[in-house]
Amino acid sequence: MPASPTIHRTVDDLRAAVSAWRREGLRVGMVPTMGALHSGHMELVRAARERADRIIVTIFVNPTQFAPTEDFGAYPRTEASDVAKLAELGVEAVFAPNANEMYPAGYATTVSLAGPAIGLETDFRPHFFSGVATVVSKLLIAGFPDVAMFGEKDYQQLMVVRQMVRDLRLPTEIIGLPTIREADGLALSSRNAYLSPEERQTATTISRAMRQAAELVRAGGSVEAALAEGRAALTEAGFRVDYLVLRNAETLAELANPAIEPRRMLAAAWLGKTRLIDNIAV
Ligand code: PAJ
Repeated sequence: MPASPTIHRTVDDLRAAVSAWRREGLRVGMVPTMGALHSGHMELVRAARERADRIIVTIFVNPTQFAPTEDFGAYPRTEASDVAKLAELGVEAVFAPNANEMYPAGYATTVSLAGPAIGLETDFRPHFFSGVATVVSKLLIAGFPDVAMFGEKDYQQLMVVRQMVRDLRLPTEIIGLPTIREADGLALSSRNAYLSPEERQTATTISRAMRQAAELVRAGGSVEAALAEGRAALTEAGFRVDYLVLRNAETLAELANPAIEPRRMLAAAWLGKTRLIDNIAV
């Protein structure tokens, strides 16, 4: 039975632990999460283990990335079982601050973004990436890890974090890892817990519709026709589509020449009260 991770509640406490590791010359990895850990998160932890001697998993449901109308209150909070899962993987440290530690009264600093943060999620969740970038920068500055792991599941987020780390010259290497899926194709997400059994069945449409649209594009068909077909499949299954688009995989800009650019298909759609996102390489 591996030892339980040490739980740090304050930045000072985390820094003391990291300083001790640094004095020993150890490499530090970080996996930022909002908890409710599933196998997708666990893959990030395993990948961190390959690249670092000590791992910090952060668990913080970050209020600044939720709009007042969103699911901050309902978001699953399962710290005890999260910590138990992390103990099994031998994680050394959990950083689980409260909101007051991250945003004390009078807190006034945010990260403002352009580039890959423009469009897509931002069109529907205008404050989202500023909240994400602010908390991720605070987490990276709290622990100064050598390496930090992010999932391609949140592809635009990964691009935004890469851009921010590059622009701020934060001394952390950002690693992006492939999306972990259920056997039927649904990308694992803490929000899948919101789906009713019927919605859970329907939810497979999102990855299937994207795969079919991607096939049509790869076969040389019209991009707009392929995307329209994908959107129609989602609407027919009962989704309300926020977007289903094909973008440049590196910049997320609209494609000027789809035949030669690296391509990523990205989708966001509502099923009942649950908003699902997914993306695939094309
Ligand atoms: P959260 O949704 O908990 O996700 C934490 C990390 O796990 C993210 O990098 C996300 O992309 C990755 N992840 C989620 N589902 C995955 C899957 N099915 N396969 C692979 N990786 C997956 O993303 C956030 O939290 C927050 O925005 C955060 C970055 C922690 C800032 O608050």
